[in-house]
Amino acid sequence: MNQSNEQNLQIAISQIRAKAGSAYDPFPWYRKKRQESPVDYDDQAHVWSVFLYEDVKKILGDKDHFSSQFFTVTRENSLSQTIFNMDPPKHTQIRSIVSRAFTPQVMKEWEPRIREITKELLDQAAKGKEMDLVKDFSHPLPVVIISELLGVPARYIDKFKEWSDILVSMPKDDSPQEVQRWMETKVRGEMELAEFFRGIIEEKRNSLGYDIISILIQAEEEGLKLSAEELVPFCNLLLVAGNETTTNLISNAVFSILENPGIYEELRDEPSLIPLAVEEALRYRAPAPIVMRVVKEDIEIGGKRLLKGQLVLVFLGSANRDENVFERSDAFDIHRHPNQHVAFGHGNHFCLGAPLARLETEIALTELVSKFSSLSFPKTFTIDAIENSAVYGLKSFPVLLGI
Ligand code: HEM
Repeated sequence: MNQSNEQNLQIAISQIRAKAGSAYDPFPWYRKKRQESPVDYDDQAHVWSVFLYEDVKKILGDKDHFSSQFFTVTRENSLSQTIFNMDPPKHTQIRSIVSRAFTPQVMKEWEPRIREITKELLDQAAKGKEMDLVKDFSHPLPVVIISELLGVPARYIDKFKEWSDILVSMPKDDSPQEVQRWMETKVRGEMELAEFFRGIIEEKRNSLGYDIISILIQAEEEGLKLSAEELVPFCNLLLVAGNETTTNLISNAVFSILENPGIYEELRDEPSLIPLAVEEALRYRAPAPIVMRVVKEDIEIGGKRLLKGQLVLVFLGSANRDENVFERSDAFDIHRHPNQHVAFGHGNHFCLGAPLARLETEIALTELVSKFSSLSFPKTFTIDAIENSAVYGLKSFPVLLGI
């Protein structure tokens, strides 16, 4: 896909999402699709959409028939140069190097610092009786954490946040002019950020630390090949793939907890349940509900013939509610175990940052329940959902704080 195809893809996603009705409650529409047309071709958007758990796993696990290369590799689109947009054998090679930065051991070493950052943000947010959980907490948290993990000096953090926001920004509507404007801003932001990362990488070469960039530079020096040209887009990818998704996981989790009276208190009294609650939030409100694939070779899925070159939207958010797999699939059950959700994908592109996202969210919830005796929706509460994009979450989320 070239850049204009990236725009087309954006338009297709907006069109399909618009069909789902409410942006924060697409679940009745998912259910209808699972029942009536689980493998569905949209003539206007020119994409397949797949809704059943079994088909979703089949597609993500089949790299012979489905490709992740939906963007043509261009200099302007740094995501196009990353593992996200690669197939084996290159994907396997690069992934084996970059996965060194995200091992459980590396994450464990970061845990105390992540907790410290979380507490600082909560102390700041807790000065009033109310906070915006997104603006004051779940949005800044992953950006500050990833900038430390990458070893970005503190003086650049504000600029870094700005770039990070541009990278995950979405067009305000799906008119071609707006999509064009959005693309141009994004490309400019990506170029600036790439320049910034080049400088950081150069600095690190002379003084290695414990951060992700240093780990990856060392991996390169141990004979495994990861050039600076590959390292820069990878740093961009971490921002795109990791920040907004984690923001949304935290706010979706808190929303689901508050929607179900008694759960906040249960977690406050029994914090050891928090890891299960995080898994259930991932299942129940998947922050990245759609992933994309291109058909590599003709194949039949669910009785439909998918043709080489066609685009497929794979609905993780629907698979996670599939009643064939999850009992009482529309209930938020923090005791659910086992919980084989696909919120982090499946197969060779399974989310590399899953250990970090889980750790951040577990710490976020643990610190929230230990700091506030209660959290509640304000009396006049309206859902402010992210629309018009492939991600699922809240733009703002006011909550009342009980100290
Ligand atoms: C709740 C938070 C997150 C969710 C729901 C999520 C979800 C996903 C999903 C569904 C994929 C698979 C994409 C595909 O199959 O095409 C993926 C891939 C990826 N994620 Fe995450 N992610 C999260 C957090 C993070 C974090 C914190 C990072 C790193 C800082 C990260 C880095 C990546 C990378 C590098 C890939 C590409 C892996 C590959 O292509 O081999 N993610 N993520």
